[in-house]
Amino acid sequence: MALVSLWQDRHLRTLVEQQPVEGHADVVVVGAGITGLTTGLLLARAGKSVTVLEAEYVGHGTTGRSTAKVSLLQGTQLSQVAKRHSTDLVRDYVDANTEAQAWVARFCDDHGVDVQRRPAYTYAHSKHGRTSVQRELALAQQAGLGAVWLDELDLPYPTAGGVRLDDQLQLDPIELLEALAQQARDHGADIVEGARVVKVRSDDWVTVETEAGTVTADRLVVATNMPILDRGAFFARAHPARSYGMAFRTATQAVDGMYLSADAPSRSLRDAPASDGHLLLVGGAGHTTGRGAPESTRLDELRQWTHEHFPGATETHAWSAQDYVPIHALPYAGPLVPGHDEILVAGGYSKWGMTNGVAAALALSGQILGGHQEWARVMRTWSRHELRGVLDGLRINGEVGFEMTRSWVRPLRPASGTPEEGSGRVRFDHVGAPTAESTQGGRTTQVSGVCTHLGGIVRFNDAERSWDCPLHGSRFGSDGEVLEGPAVCGLRKR
Ligand SMILES: Cc1cc2nc3c(=O)[nH]c(=O)nc-3n(C[C@H](O)[C@H](O)[C@H](O)COP(=O)(O)OP(=O)(O)OC[C@H]3O[C@@H](n4cnc5c(N)ncnc54)[C@H](O)[C@@H]3O)c2cc1C
Ligand code: FES
Repeated sequence: MALVSLWQDRHLRTLVEQQPVEGHADVVVVGAGITGLTTGLLLARAGKSVTVLEAEYVGHGTTGRSTAKVSLLQGTQLSQVAKRHSTDLVRDYVDANTEAQAWVARFCDDHGVDVQRRPAYTYAHSKHGRTSVQRELALAQQAGLGAVWLDELDLPYPTAGGVRLDDQLQLDPIELLEALAQQARDHGADIVEGARVVKVRSDDWVTVETEAGTVTADRLVVATNMPILDRGAFFARAHPARSYGMAFRTATQAVDGMYLSADAPSRSLRDAPASDGHLLLVGGAGHTTGRGAPESTRLDELRQWTHEHFPGATETHAWSAQDYVPIHALPYAGPLVPGHDEILVAGGYSKWGMTNGVAAALALSGQILGGHQEWARVMRTWSRHELRGVLDGLRINGEVGFEMTRSWVRPLRPASGTPEEGSGRVRFDHVGAPTAESTQGGRTTQVSGVCTHLGGIVRFNDAERSWDCPLHGSRFGSDGEVLEGPAVCGLRKR
């Protein structure tokens, strides 16, 4: 049961006729989210022949499920960067996001994409949170942002103060993606939907195999959120963070800006203009994909919280999405492996990809076209500043190792019978690999319980009826089909 975001519901897609994948392009881009489409457009505009390969359709990925605040005030992200890196890199991070935000604003203005200007707020629920927000304020001001302190916020529950930055942007991310795709096509780019990349080889040029054919290219840009290619081991540098979004109809505009709490419970708020009234978006209840309390309880938590603080709000949509939080707190855009720039990757936006994804696209197209942005060093894939995250990396990979071991330990007695309607379980028999079995619509399906990426044991997600891998966040449908990478092959049918 795929949960559909407000934006995906507004821009419902029908299946496209499969186009063949063939020929040669200067650049092949994998992934039609904000990173891939912006990169494709920038390169096509510069005269490159570009093919964008998308496994599903434009807006299917995280961008189409984002809360889509295009903001320079990003929760306590500057504090995360400053904890591990120099003041210069904090400044570069802000410069990258500032240039990207200005690019989005210009693009939307030029191509009729609706944008609302709102103040952005980072606020605290507690005294401890207040200290974090004050630290963020100091860093924002040092980096030249005109953020100010507020003791009181216009929210229907008590807070311990917050920071405001005026004149930030919010939008409908699929409206933006569709405009990017249209512009890229108008400049000659080929955007092929339903073309999942399953294999990449590189020798004289890069050969990209999909389920719908093979294309070659001088350069490849992998913009799949978490890179699908294992060389470079980007999956070991970040953890998959899944969180939830809900839309509620309200009698009047419920919030005057874009809010994010710095401490628990993590809550993101914004409004969304609707032709027939007002919508309030509420986000939060995040966790590492495939771990922790059942996913359905996370949506219930957001529901209850909203009903308590915004009485009368009526639920219209509930959905979920994931982004990757890198161990060194900085996004990356650059070569997959050091010294070879024929394959470039981007990602690790810590849930701030509406600006970072565009900054990555500007950096990558700069690398391909020979341009130069001073701030782009903050996104280098193989720089010394990456090593500063090594200790956190060991911790994350220790947790991954623990999950791997724990999930492979077999219970003494194998399960019997079939799972109840709407539920699933991993069955360990005495011999062989575990089986993931679930029942939906009266049909019980059995697939391998072993993730095709690197062998994690999947877990049933009871909110989306999917199989989620707790190691690096790959997700599969009940018939084993890939929903999200880094895996590129489905779970084998049993
Ligand atoms: C709940 C939530 C709320 C968020 N809110 C905000 C916000 O308010 N502001 C903000 O700045 N950021 C926000 N983010 C983060 C932001 O949405 C993401 O960082 C950004 O959308 C990532 O864009 P992308 O283009 O890298 O990836 P995606 O949008 O996921 O695009 C990647 C594409 O690659 C395709 N793909 C994957 N594998 C293959 C394959 N093998 N072959 C072909 N195609 C493939 C996918 O189908 C997908 O369409 C949020 C994230 C989450 C999870
Ligand atoms: S996502 Fe890496 S092992 Fe499953």
